[in-house]
Amino acid sequence: MNFSCSTGLDRVRRTSKRPAGTVPSGDAVDLSMGEPDFSAPVAVVDAMRSAVQDGYSHYGDLNGDPELRKEIARQSTLRSNQKVVPAQVSIGHGATGVLASLVLALVSPGDRVVIPEPTYSLYSDLVEMVGGQVIWVPLQSDLQLDVPAILSAARGAKLLILCNPGNPTGAVFPQEDLRAIGKGLQGSETVVVSDEAYSAFTYGADLTSAISVPELTERVVVVDTLSKSFALTGFRLGWSIAPPAIAAAISQVSRMIAGAPNAAVQRAAIVALRQGHSLYSNMQDEYSRRREFVVTHLSKVQGVSFEAPQGAFYAFFKHGVGATSDEVRLHLANAGVLLRSGSEYGASGEGYLRMSFAASLGEIAKGIDRIALGLGQMGVDDRPHSI
Ligand SMILES: Cc1ncc(COP(=O)(O)O)c(C=O)c1O
Repeated sequence: MNFSCSTGLDRVRRTSKRPAGTVPSGDAVDLSMGEPDFSAPVAVVDAMRSAVQDGYSHYGDLNGDPELRKEIARQSTLRSNQKVVPAQVSIGHGATGVLASLVLALVSPGDRVVIPEPTYSLYSDLVEMVGGQVIWVPLQSDLQLDVPAILSAARGAKLLILCNPGNPTGAVFPQEDLRAIGKGLQGSETVVVSDEAYSAFTYGADLTSAISVPELTERVVVVDTLSKSFALTGFRLGWSIAPPAIAAAISQVSRMIAGAPNAAVQRAAIVALRQGHSLYSNMQDEYSRRREFVVTHLSKVQGVSFEAPQGAFYAFFKHGVGATSDEVRLHLANAGVLLRSGSEYGASGEGYLRMSFAASLGEIAKGIDRIALGLGQMGVDDRPHSI
């Protein structure tokens, strides 16, 4: 039998730079993944266990657990200084599921979707899948938004998708830029998506959630997840906060493609969100320590240059070698350290590599030594580097 994929999936296969799965690391130091190396918070594990024992093993509310939606609305009200109601909250299978529902709900074939890059590569894959037109707008050389270029590209666009704090860049966008985007879009029908999956982890920079920017209120969808803040990537629990009509559209698609969200996980999510900061303050401290270490030692590697990350847990650095990022990534994998090539995140990521610091200090130190050695072998003047 002949088999052919949908034209949407064909497009994704032609354009996607996302890896098809995790690569076994063997003896290599793996600094490639956005996978927190912390265990699940005990209180959340206990809540999950109790939920299953208490009978949350059946279909739940198709729109998500009402108590969870209420808690997210309550916290969003506090964060935004404006009343957020549960009807604005959609629950999904991780931020991934929410983003997929959102793109399916809003983007028609031919619609323009503006994506500042380098950025998380899922966004463009989803847009390609539904036949939308990706309009890339390069970030500035300091990895910040080019607001005039974004506003110019956004004329007539259906969506603008921001990642704040940035994966892979670690950049945090200033409030003035978010306000300027809101002002510039006034009168348009462009919806702004702000993926704030890493909002728990910033390093001295003030993160303004797009939900708290009055100029964006009527058009903003904020996406968040338990995955990074609570080191609960396997729980697959994400949510969005949007104007009610958009939230209803997102929830409708989620109901169709995934049915009701996992009942027990949502009960555990209520506990996670209520206890909030106390469950991840240890992770914040540890990521800050690692970031300091990376900023100090990675910047000593000959040829390497980068902006100190303001958020998330990645260093996005120029490798300084006359080869493509992918070639350098492969060479470094052979030298025993796994990273991601910057070009995976958009054309402007060429020349960069992404290193995750969601790994122990020992692994990070070993990884940096191997980066120094590997880049040296590729032609960078390699001064002895030892930590
Ligand atoms: C910016 C960003 N958004 C969303 C996700 C996916 O989150 P989830 O695990 O909730 O699907 C990731 C995962 O790496 C991410 O980096």
